[in-house]
Amino acid sequence: MKINHLLFSLSFLILSTQAGLVFAQAKPEVLVKQRQAGMQMIGKYFGPLSGMPSGKAPYKADVVIRNAAFLEMLSKMPWDGFTEATKDTKSSTLPAVFTEMNKFEEKSRHFQSTVDKLAKISKSGDEAGIKAAIGEIGKSCADCHDSYRVKP
Ligand code: HEC
Repeated sequence: MKINHLLFSLSFLILSTQAGLVFAQAKPEVLVKQRQAGMQMIGKYFGPLSGMPSGKAPYKADVVIRNAAFLEMLSKMPWDGFTEATKDTKSSTLPAVFTEMNKFEEKSRHFQSTVDKLAKISKSGDEAGIKAAIGEIGKSCADCHDSYRVKP
Protein backbone atom coordinates (compact mmCIF):
# COMPACT_ATOMS: atom_id res chain seq x y z
CA MET A 1 0.00 0.00 0.00
CA LYS A 2 2.70 2.42 1.05
CA ILE A 3 4.83 1.54 -1.96
CA ASN A 4 1.89 2.13 -4.25
CA HIS A 5 1.34 5.44 -2.66
CA LEU A 6 4.96 6.39 -3.10
CA LEU A 7 4.97 5.28 -6.73
CA PHE A 8 1.86 7.29 -7.37
CA SER A 9 3.36 10.42 -5.84
CA LEU A 10 6.56 9.88 -7.76
CA SER A 11 4.87 9.48 -11.12
CA PHE A 12 2.74 12.51 -10.37
CA LEU A 13 5.88 14.49 -9.63
CA ILE A 14 7.54 13.35 -12.85
CA LEU A 15 4.44 14.12 -14.90
CA SER A 16 4.02 17.57 -13.44
CA THR A 17 7.69 18.37 -13.93
CA GLN A 18 7.44 17.31 -17.56
CA ALA A 19 4.33 19.43 -18.03
CA GLY A 20 6.22 22.36 -16.52
CA LEU A 21 9.09 21.90 -18.95
CA VAL A 22 6.77 21.62 -21.92
CA PHE A 23 5.18 24.87 -20.90
CA ALA A 24 8.46 26.69 -20.38
CA GLN A 25 9.89 25.54 -23.69
CA ALA A 26 6.82 25.69 -25.93
CA LYS A 27 8.12 26.37 -29.41
CA PRO A 28 6.74 29.42 -31.24
CA GLU A 29 5.10 27.16 -33.88
CA VAL A 30 3.36 25.24 -31.11
CA LEU A 31 2.11 28.42 -29.45
CA VAL A 32 0.75 29.60 -32.80
CA LYS A 33 -1.05 26.30 -33.41
CA GLN A 34 -2.50 26.37 -29.91
CA ARG A 35 -3.76 29.94 -30.11
CA GLN A 36 -5.34 29.13 -33.50
CA ALA A 37 -6.94 26.02 -31.99
CA GLY A 38 -8.30 28.19 -29.18
CA MET A 39 -9.82 30.56 -31.74
CA GLN A 40 -11.29 27.62 -33.64
CA MET A 41 -12.99 26.33 -30.49
CA ILE A 42 -14.29 29.83 -29.76
CA GLY A 43 -15.66 29.86 -33.32
CA LYS A 44 -17.19 26.43 -32.86
CA TYR A 45 -19.17 27.41 -29.77
CA PHE A 46 -19.96 30.99 -30.72
CA GLY A 47 -21.08 30.05 -34.26
CA PRO A 48 -24.49 28.60 -33.28
CA LEU A 49 -25.24 31.71 -31.15
CA SER A 50 -24.11 34.37 -33.61
CA GLY A 51 -27.24 34.21 -35.78
CA MET A 52 -29.69 34.31 -32.88
CA PRO A 53 -29.96 38.10 -32.40
CA SER A 54 -30.96 38.63 -36.06
CA GLY A 55 -33.24 35.58 -36.13
CA LYS A 56 -31.06 33.86 -38.76
CA ALA A 57 -30.64 31.04 -36.25
CA PRO A 58 -33.52 29.95 -34.02
CA TYR A 59 -33.23 31.05 -30.40
CA LYS A 60 -32.48 28.02 -28.21
CA ALA A 61 -32.03 28.77 -24.52
CA ASP A 62 -30.34 25.44 -23.72
CA VAL A 63 -27.73 25.90 -26.45
CA VAL A 64 -27.01 29.42 -25.17
CA ILE A 65 -26.53 28.17 -21.60
CA ARG A 66 -24.21 25.35 -22.63
CA ASN A 67 -22.13 27.30 -25.16
CA ALA A 68 -21.83 30.38 -22.92
CA ALA A 69 -20.35 28.19 -20.18
CA PHE A 70 -17.81 26.71 -22.64
CA LEU A 71 -16.99 30.16 -24.02
CA GLU A 72 -16.40 31.54 -20.55
CA MET A 73 -13.35 29.25 -20.27
CA LEU A 74 -12.30 29.34 -23.92
CA SER A 75 -12.31 33.15 -24.03
CA LYS A 76 -9.43 33.13 -21.54
CA MET A 77 -7.21 30.70 -23.44
CA PRO A 78 -5.69 32.01 -26.69
CA TRP A 79 -3.95 35.09 -25.27
CA ASP A 80 -0.86 33.61 -23.65
CA GLY A 81 0.06 32.26 -27.10
CA PHE A 82 0.60 35.77 -28.52
CA THR A 83 4.14 36.18 -27.21
CA GLU A 84 7.08 38.14 -28.68
CA ALA A 85 8.74 34.80 -29.45
CA THR A 86 6.03 34.11 -32.06
CA LYS A 87 6.32 37.36 -33.96
CA ASP A 88 8.30 35.88 -36.85
CA THR A 89 6.30 32.67 -37.09
CA LYS A 90 3.87 32.44 -39.99
CA SER A 91 0.28 32.98 -38.90
CA SER A 92 -2.74 35.18 -39.55
CA THR A 93 -1.79 37.55 -36.75
CA LEU A 94 -0.85 41.01 -37.99
CA PRO A 95 2.52 42.36 -36.77
CA ALA A 96 0.67 45.25 -35.06
CA VAL A 97 -0.20 42.87 -32.20
CA PHE A 98 3.43 42.88 -31.11
CA THR A 99 3.93 46.65 -31.38
CA GLU A 100 0.59 47.48 -29.72
CA MET A 101 0.40 44.71 -27.13
CA ASN A 102 -1.46 46.97 -24.67
CA LYS A 103 -4.23 47.72 -27.12
CA PHE A 104 -4.47 44.09 -28.14
CA GLU A 105 -4.72 43.00 -24.51
CA GLU A 106 -7.33 45.66 -23.90
CA LYS A 107 -9.43 44.21 -26.74
CA SER A 108 -8.98 40.69 -25.42
CA ARG A 109 -10.13 41.82 -21.96
CA HIS A 110 -13.13 43.59 -23.43
CA PHE A 111 -13.99 40.41 -25.33
CA GLN A 112 -13.76 38.34 -22.14
CA SER A 113 -16.03 40.79 -20.35
CA THR A 114 -18.69 40.47 -23.08
CA VAL A 115 -18.53 36.67 -22.76
CA ASP A 116 -18.70 36.83 -18.95
CA LYS A 117 -21.79 38.99 -19.23
CA LEU A 118 -23.53 36.44 -21.45
CA ALA A 119 -22.55 33.59 -19.14
CA LYS A 120 -23.94 35.52 -16.18
CA ILE A 121 -27.36 36.16 -17.74
CA SER A 122 -27.63 33.00 -19.86
CA LYS A 123 -29.98 31.32 -17.38
CA SER A 124 -32.08 34.41 -16.70
CA GLY A 125 -34.72 33.75 -19.36
CA ASP A 126 -34.29 37.37 -20.51
CA GLU A 127 -34.27 36.62 -24.24
CA ALA A 128 -33.85 40.24 -25.34
CA GLY A 129 -30.95 40.80 -22.93
CA ILE A 130 -29.31 37.54 -23.97
CA LYS A 131 -29.58 38.40 -27.67
CA ALA A 132 -28.07 41.83 -26.99
CA ALA A 133 -25.19 40.19 -25.10
CA ILE A 134 -24.55 37.81 -28.02
CA GLY A 135 -24.50 40.82 -30.35
CA GLU A 136 -21.87 42.51 -28.17
CA ILE A 137 -19.63 39.43 -28.33
CA GLY A 138 -19.92 39.33 -32.13
CA LYS A 139 -18.91 42.99 -32.37
CA SER A 140 -15.93 42.31 -30.16
CA CYS A 141 -14.66 39.45 -32.40
CA ALA A 142 -15.02 41.64 -35.48
CA ASP A 143 -13.41 44.66 -33.83
CA CYS A 144 -10.28 42.71 -32.92
CA HIS A 145 -10.08 40.85 -36.23
CA ASP A 146 -10.35 44.17 -38.12
CA SER A 147 -7.21 45.46 -36.41
CA TYR A 148 -5.14 42.37 -35.73
CA ARG A 149 -5.99 39.48 -38.02
CA VAL A 150 -5.06 39.00 -41.68
CA LYS A 151 -8.31 39.08 -43.65
CA PRO A 152 -9.26 35.45 -44.27
C1 HEC B 1 -8.50 40.38 -29.02
C2 HEC B 1 -8.49 39.87 -30.37
C3 HEC B 1 -9.43 38.80 -30.85
C4 HEC B 1 -10.70 38.53 -30.45
C5 HEC B 1 -11.54 39.24 -29.40
C6 HEC B 1 -11.15 37.41 -31.22
N1 HEC B 1 -10.18 37.01 -32.09
FE1 HEC B 1 -10.28 35.46 -33.37
N2 HEC B 1 -8.38 35.81 -33.99
C7 HEC B 1 -7.57 36.83 -33.54
C8 HEC B 1 -6.28 36.75 -34.17
C9 HEC B 1 -5.11 37.68 -33.94
C10 HEC B 1 -6.32 35.64 -35.05
C11 HEC B 1 -5.19 35.09 -35.91
C12 HEC B 1 -4.48 33.98 -35.11
C13 HEC B 1 -3.20 33.47 -35.77
O1 HEC B 1 -3.27 32.96 -36.91
O2 HEC B 1 -2.15 33.59 -35.12
C14 HEC B 1 -7.67 35.08 -34.90
C15 HEC B 1 -8.11 33.96 -35.59
C16 HEC B 1 -9.39 33.45 -35.51
C17 HEC B 1 -9.86 32.29 -36.24
C18 HEC B 1 -9.03 31.44 -37.21
C19 HEC B 1 -8.24 30.42 -36.44
C20 HEC B 1 -7.35 29.57 -37.35
O3 HEC B 1 -7.78 28.47 -37.74
O4 HEC B 1 -6.23 30.00 -37.68
C21 HEC B 1 -11.18 32.09 -35.89
C22 HEC B 1 -12.10 30.98 -36.37
C23 HEC B 1 -11.52 33.13 -34.94
N3 HEC B 1 -10.41 33.93 -34.73
C24 HEC B 1 -12.77 33.25 -34.35
C25 HEC B 1 -13.08 34.22 -33.40
C26 HEC B 1 -14.41 34.42 -32.85
C27 HEC B 1 -15.66 33.64 -33.28
C28 HEC B 1 -14.31 35.41 -31.92
C29 HEC B 1 -15.38 35.96 -31.04
C30 HEC B 1 -16.37 35.08 -30.48
C31 HEC B 1 -12.91 35.86 -31.92
N4 HEC B 1 -12.20 35.11 -32.82
C32 HEC B 1 -12.42 36.85 -31.10
C33 HEC B 1 -7.91 37.78 -32.61
C34 HEC B 1 -9.10 37.84 -31.90
